[in-house]
Amino acid sequence: MQHQQRIQHEFKKQAAGFAQSDLTLNRGEYINWILTSLQLRPDARVLDVAAGTGILSRAMAPYVHEVIAVDITEEMIQEGMRQNEQSGTTNISYRQADVASLPFDEGTFDVVVCRFAFHHFTDPVLVLGEMARVCKPSGQVAVVDMISSEEPQLYERYNHYERLRDPSHTFCPRPTELAGWFAEHGMQVSVAEHVRVDVNVAAWLTLTQTPSNVRSQIEQAIRNELAHGGPVTGMEPFQQDDVLMFKQHWTKMMAVKP
Ligand SMILES: C[S@@+](CC[C@H](N)C(=O)[O-])C[C@H]1O[C@@H](n2cnc3c(N)ncnc32)[C@H](O)[C@@H]1O
Repeated sequence: MQHQQRIQHEFKKQAAGFAQSDLTLNRGEYINWILTSLQLRPDARVLDVAAGTGILSRAMAPYVHEVIAVDITEEMIQEGMRQNEQSGTTNISYRQADVASLPFDEGTFDVVVCRFAFHHFTDPVLVLGEMARVCKPSGQVAVVDMISSEEPQLYERYNHYERLRDPSHTFCPRPTELAGWFAEHGMQVSVAEHVRVDVNVAAWLTLTQTPSNVRSQIEQAIRNELAHGGPVTGMEPFQQDDVLMFKQHWTKMMAVKP
C-alpha cells in the first residue's frame, strides 16, 4: 500500500473520533497555547496544512478573514464540513490535496500552519518547503507536532510504538531536527516552546482502532516498564487513579518568512 493510501485508510477510520470533546487535540488549553503565538489579524488569509476535521481552523476562524483547510482524506474533510455547519462557521473552505504539492501560488497566505501531521509525512522537509513557498514574505510559518527524545534509543522505541498503533505514523522529529528543517529553508525559528501532555493510553488506542492483539502488545510493554522496570518505551508511562497514562511531548515552532 502506498503511504498516501495508508493515511487515507487510517483517517477514514478515525474521522468520527475527531468530534469527541475530550480528545486531547480538542482541549482549549492546548489550542490557546498555539493561538497566542500565531500572527492572526482580521485581514489575514490562513492556510491550515493537513487540517483534518479543521479543529484548529475553527479556532482560528473568528480572528481572521479566511482559512483554507487542506487535507488528503475525504472523510476528515466531510466531518470538518459537518462541524463547520454545526458551529455556524462560514469562513473556512476545504481543498482535498496532498500537502507535498500545495495547490496554491507562491506568497498566497499570511499564516501557514500545520498541527499534528508532520509525524505522518514521508518527506517533511519537502512539506515545510511547500509551506514556506505559499507563505508571503514576512508571513508566519508554524509547525505544531509531537516530538521525540534527542536520545537515539528513546527516539527509536517511541516511534516504534507509535507506528504499531497507527501504521501511517512515520516519525516524530527531534526538536533539533525540526529546527534544522526551518533553517534548510532559510527560516530562523523565533518561537520554540515545548509542553508535556498527559495522554490516556486506552483513549489513544481507541481513536486509531488499533487491532486488539497489537493493542495488548503496546499496553503490555507500557505495563512492563511501569511494573518491573522493563525496557523503556520512551513514553514515560504513569498511573493516575488506576488509569494507564503516558506523556507526549509537543512543540510549537514558528518562523517569519524572510
Ligand atoms: C492527526 S490528524 C491532525 C489533523 C489536524 N491537523 C488537527 O490538528 O486536528 C493528521 C491529518 O493529516 C492528514 N495528512 C497526512 N498526510 C497528508 C498528506 N500528505 N497530505 C494531506 N493531508 C495529509 C490526514 O489525512 C489527517 O487528517
